[in-house]
Amino acid sequence: MLDKCRREQWHIRDLDFSGTPRPMSRSDEIAIVQYFTDMAGIERLAGALFEQQRKNTSDVVLRDIFESFVRDEVRHAHAAQLLADYYDVHHYKTYQPNPALTRFTPHFVAAVKYLSPEIANTYITSGELILDVALLRSINDYVGDEMSERAMELINRDESRHIAVDFHMVEVYSSPEYQELKRRRPAQPLRVRARAAWAFLNVLYYGAPFFKGVFFEPMRTVDPSGRRIREAFKRIQILGVKGEVRKHPFSRFMLGLQDAYNEHALARLLFGRLIERILGVDAALIARLYSTDEARRAERQSFDEMAQEALAAKLA
Ligand SMILES: [Fe+2]
Ligand SMILES: [Fe+2]
Repeated sequence: MLDKCRREQWHIRDLDFSGTPRPMSRSDEIAIVQYFTDMAGIERLAGALFEQQRKNTSDVVLRDIFESFVRDEVRHAHAAQLLADYYDVHHYKTYQPNPALTRFTPHFVAAVKYLSPEIANTYITSGELILDVALLRSINDYVGDEMSERAMELINRDESRHIAVDFHMVEVYSSPEYQELKRRRPAQPLRVRARAAWAFLNVLYYGAPFFKGVFFEPMRTVDPSGRRIREAFKRIQILGVKGEVRKHPFSRFMLGLQDAYNEHALARLLFGRLIERILGVDAALIARLYSTDEARRAERQSFDEMAQEALAAKLA
C-alpha cells in the first residue's frame, strides 16, 4: 500500500484548467460552485483527520501511509477550489463554505484526537464512503463536464486507497489482539475522558446539521432518486454488523438505536427525533438497507474484499 501511495502521487499542475465550462443555467452554476466550495472544506477536514490518525499510530508504515493521505486530501482541496473557480463563470455571488461545515470541523478534529481510535475510524470510514460512493460521483454526473471528469478521475484513484486503508483499520480495531491491548491499557486520566465526552457531544450536536447541509441536501439535487446515498449507507450498515465489528461497544450503541427506531413504535414515538439527531440521518437511511443474504455474504468476505466491493459500487 505504501508503494502504491508513492507511485500514484500526482500534482495539481497535471490538471489543465485552460478550457471553457459547458454552458449552464444560473441555478446550476450557483449550485455547482457551492458544491465544490464545500468540497474544498470537506477535503481539508479529511486531511486534518488523517493527520490525527497519523499521530495515533506507532506503526511506521502506517504513519507514512497516513502522511501521504494528508498530502492527497490537501491536493483534493486545491483541486476542488480550482473547480469552484473554474465553474464560477458569471460571479453571481460570493461563495462561502457552508456554515454547518465550519462549525462542525473543529469538533470533529478534537473528537478524533480524544476519542478512542476505533470510534474515530468509524466516523472517518462512514464519511469517506458517503463522500466517495455517493457525493463526488453524483456531483460529477450532475456537472457533466470534461474538466470535472478529469479531476475526479485522479481524486478517485486516491480515494480508492483511502477506502482500502479505512476498512483495514476497521479490521485492526476489531481484532482480538487490539481488544486485548485495550483491556490491558490503563484508564485515561479524568481530564482526557472529560475532553473526549465533550468532543463526542459536540460531534453529535453539530454532526446532524453538517451531514444535512453538505451531504443530504446536495444529494437531493444531484441524485434525486436517492440510489447512491442508499448504496453508501448500505455499505456502512453491513460493515457495522460484520461479526467482530458488531461486538464493539460503539457499534452496539449505534445498532441499538437503529433497532429501537426501526422495530419499537413507542421508542420511535418518544425518542425518534433524538435518535435521528444522534445517528445524524433521517428515517429513510436509518431503515435497514441490506438483506439477510448480503449480511451473510459480508460475514464470509475479508475486509479488503468488502472495500473492493464498495469501490466497485461507486463505479456501477
Ligand atoms: Fe479526498
Ligand atoms: Fe479520502
